[in-house]
Amino acid sequence: MIVTLTLNPSLDRTIEVDSLTRGAVIRAGGARVDPGGKGVNVSRALLANGIASRAVLPCGGDDGQRLVRLLGQEGVAVVAVRCAGATRSNVTLVEPDGTVTKINEPGGPLTAAEVDRVAAAVLQAAGGGAGSGRADWVVVCGSLPPGVPVDLYATLGRRFAAAGLRVAVDTSGPALLAAVAAGTELVKPNREELAEAVGRPLGSLRDVIDAAQELRSWGAGTVLASLGADGAVLVGPAGVVAGESPPVEPRSTVGAGDALLAGYLAAGAAGGSGAAGVAGAAALAEALAWGAAAAALPGSRMPRPADISRTHVRIHPGPDLGRPHCHPADRPTDPDGRRPARPGPLGG
Ligand SMILES: Nc1ncnc2c1ncn2[C@@H]1O[C@H](COP(=O)(O)OP(=O)(O)OP(=O)(O)O)[C@@H](O)[C@H]1O
Ligand SMILES: [Mg+2]
Repeated sequence: MIVTLTLNPSLDRTIEVDSLTRGAVIRAGGARVDPGGKGVNVSRALLANGIASRAVLPCGGDDGQRLVRLLGQEGVAVVAVRCAGATRSNVTLVEPDGTVTKINEPGGPLTAAEVDRVAAAVLQAAGGGAGSGRADWVVVCGSLPPGVPVDLYATLGRRFAAAGLRVAVDTSGPALLAAVAAGTELVKPNREELAEAVGRPLGSLRDVIDAAQELRSWGAGTVLASLGADGAVLVGPAGVVAGESPPVEPRSTVGAGDALLAGYLAAGAAGGSGAAGVAGAAALAEALAWGAAAAALPGSRMPRPADISRTHVRIHPGPDLGRPHCHPADRPTDPDGRRPARPGPLGG
């Protein structure tokens, strides 16, 4: 069983517009409302694949209630901790050519007492009950709400680890650095988050692996670095594995990183060490299959078993470290304008 914690969840409104003109009255086409939040997405992905999970989140105001209701309708086991601050709502404006403009609210503030109640809810949710057993992992995801210390994930992670839980953190900036320094067992930065953490651009797989090793030298146990269409790299105590699934023409990469992390934990939940090595390679392959499937789905829809293809995932225990990355947009097209599959590991 996997418990997720989303401290700054949201009600995500997606609105289709014909075009975006500043200062104009814009008529909306379709509009939809979805539950949002990175930990929430991890729980949704696990649920869609039959793996028990509980999603712990603070919630407040009407939007908070609606968020909890929507998650309940999807079948997510939600542990909502009522808080005074209103749950935020994030707005995504989608134009016909696929251009996406996002407006994310900062979120309601959380007081120290509320954080304590949320942490207690995580420990209780992780303790088992209702036939779901004790949690293997607590996955702490997303941005921090206003008003909390920047090292809150580090503090919470230590508390969860002391209770015997394995802790994974997916966040960015100073919160990521603090979680790394606190010795978090697993962190999942994307390329930009990893580059920001080490303070330099990451042009090749070698650069990514060096940066991941740097995070490990600062305290992180295992680094699962996601690289968009270039796949992902797992750097742990047992070594390095890289891999990718064939690049898809992404419908929406929002939540692809969350699906990747869910797939990794789903594969490792059977007892894998989570480190690189044979178990790590298998978990990375599963992660890549889930990530690519999520990228091919619209919005933040999480893949179900029928969406996930494992046949074309490639794992490279000895990756060609010097190769530059090849982003889909940079990859050469054939005369019909199609992008051929890359010729070699993580580059072309
Ligand atoms: N175009 C693509 N083709 C194939 N796989 C993809 C593509 N884009 C993303 N993926 C898969 O999804 C994973 C996660 O993507 P990415 O690195 O963009 O995560 P992220 O930036 O953390 O996303 P988010 O935070 O929105 O969930 C990648 O490691 C890869 O496996
Ligand atoms: Mg991410």
